[in-house]
Amino acid sequence: MSMRLRCDSTPAWGQLRECFEGRGRYFDLRAAFAADPGRYQALSLQAPHVFADLSKNLIDAPLQATLTGLAQQCNVVAHREAMFGGEHINQTEDRAVMHWLLRHPGEDLPVAVQAEFTQVRQVLDAMLAYAQAVREDAAITDIVNIGIGGSDLGPQMAVLALDEFVDQGKRYHFVSSVDGHELSAVLRQVRPESTLFLVASKSFTTLETMTNARSARAWFTAQGGRDIARHFCALTSNVQAAAEFGISTTFGFWDWVGGRYSMWSAIGLPVAIAIGPQRFRELLAGAHEMDEHFRTAPLACNLPVQLALLDVWYRNFHGYTSRSVAPYHSGLRRMQAYLQQLEMESNGKRVDATGQALPYATSPVIWGEPAANGQHAYFQMLHQGSDVIPVEFIAVKKVRHGLPEHHHKLLANGLAQAQALMLGQQDAAGHRHMPGNRPSTFLLLEELTPAGLGALIALYEHRVFVAGSLWGINSFDQWGVELGKVLAKNIEPRFTSGDTTGLDASTAGLLQRLL
Ligand code: F6P
Repeated sequence: MSMRLRCDSTPAWGQLRECFEGRGRYFDLRAAFAADPGRYQALSLQAPHVFADLSKNLIDAPLQATLTGLAQQCNVVAHREAMFGGEHINQTEDRAVMHWLLRHPGEDLPVAVQAEFTQVRQVLDAMLAYAQAVREDAAITDIVNIGIGGSDLGPQMAVLALDEFVDQGKRYHFVSSVDGHELSAVLRQVRPESTLFLVASKSFTTLETMTNARSARAWFTAQGGRDIARHFCALTSNVQAAAEFGISTTFGFWDWVGGRYSMWSAIGLPVAIAIGPQRFRELLAGAHEMDEHFRTAPLACNLPVQLALLDVWYRNFHGYTSRSVAPYHSGLRRMQAYLQQLEMESNGKRVDATGQALPYATSPVIWGEPAANGQHAYFQMLHQGSDVIPVEFIAVKKVRHGLPEHHHKLLANGLAQAQALMLGQQDAAGHRHMPGNRPSTFLLLEELTPAGLGALIALYEHRVFVAGSLWGINSFDQWGVELGKVLAKNIEPRFTSGDTTGLDASTAGLLQRLL
């Protein structure tokens, strides 16, 4: 196992504290641009498919070098190599972390993971052949994905983002919550003979998914549906449970694919049906390009590393508690939900990898909306609120909708918001005063193609890895979600029995009101 060092045990951590107490706290973006005409060039980076302007962040070149020193001293490189070497870096679950293998073309793989790669290829080929058959099957008009968390957010986000590449002959539905409104709303729109249900669950035990899957199966048979094999397909690492459920068509994946990192696996089947096998392979290839950038670019110009270092700078030194994601593309309207799971389930931890309580903060809150709408809602707070919230703009250069005027207006607004956050309106008084100096990152995708999206998502995955690595935590478990599940199991039967014995007074009181 690679030797990891927690950020607070490095000399760089102390240097960063000094930098912050010295000039970091008072860093002024306007002054920094005035003093350095080369600032934009110096602080922008090109990664595969994604250009990043970091120059509106509260850093300069010397500070960036000190931050990069932190990544070096924490042994991020060794940790990264341990992940790419198939080591069990998810030590609380004793698992390797190899979602990157799902998009690997196969050359120069470490011997240790070659057997896994063979299986990856077999499942990918079979799944894509199935996706093609479904695409060609005109009798299937509706695809209903039943899954939650990583078995929902990635595929849903990708199908929306890649809408321009989606086969318009079919409709795609995503049912995640156990709230019966969701499933019943979809079932009202579909017919058993023309619907394919994809039951997506890594564990095949998740309460929401299994409840929805059972209800969908009951609806299917009640409507006269007979051919479960044709109309139900399982995407899971628990192949046996899928068989016991009565599903014979199953595409599997492995315990070394975390749920929130699983859209590249069989969990991506709805995406593959929607955009087709070739485009799905392009999605994987784009992600792989970013994997290679992450593996090979020097830390100083490695985009996932530099974004993670900014996260640490803002969270642990400036004390900022959240980051707002601002996509300027309506196709990215589920991006923030996807990122919430990716970042907050991965890095929302309060102990380090050895179980010791951490003396510093970890994951910020991630939030946002497609920003053209956000501008008319919460951007007021970003500009004049009492908290400073770094904003991450995501814009796309080329679009295909044929309304160039719309696109120029959209992009002008994105640029203007970033500018307004930085410049403020210092000469105005009272209610019109805007302090400015509010940091932002501007990510620019050439085009929202499958490869571009793949690269963007892999960028975020690796940024989360690096931030977790610096914080010394295990980004790949999620023990915090278990307690609520156990308690819900205890409460549910009480809706029938009416028994409130042993419950706290608040829960008992609420339950009685609900009975
Ligand atoms: O409860 C959290 C979680 O385990 C997520 O990590 C996961 O993505 C989601 O539930 C769904 O899990 P599964 O794919 O096993 O149904």
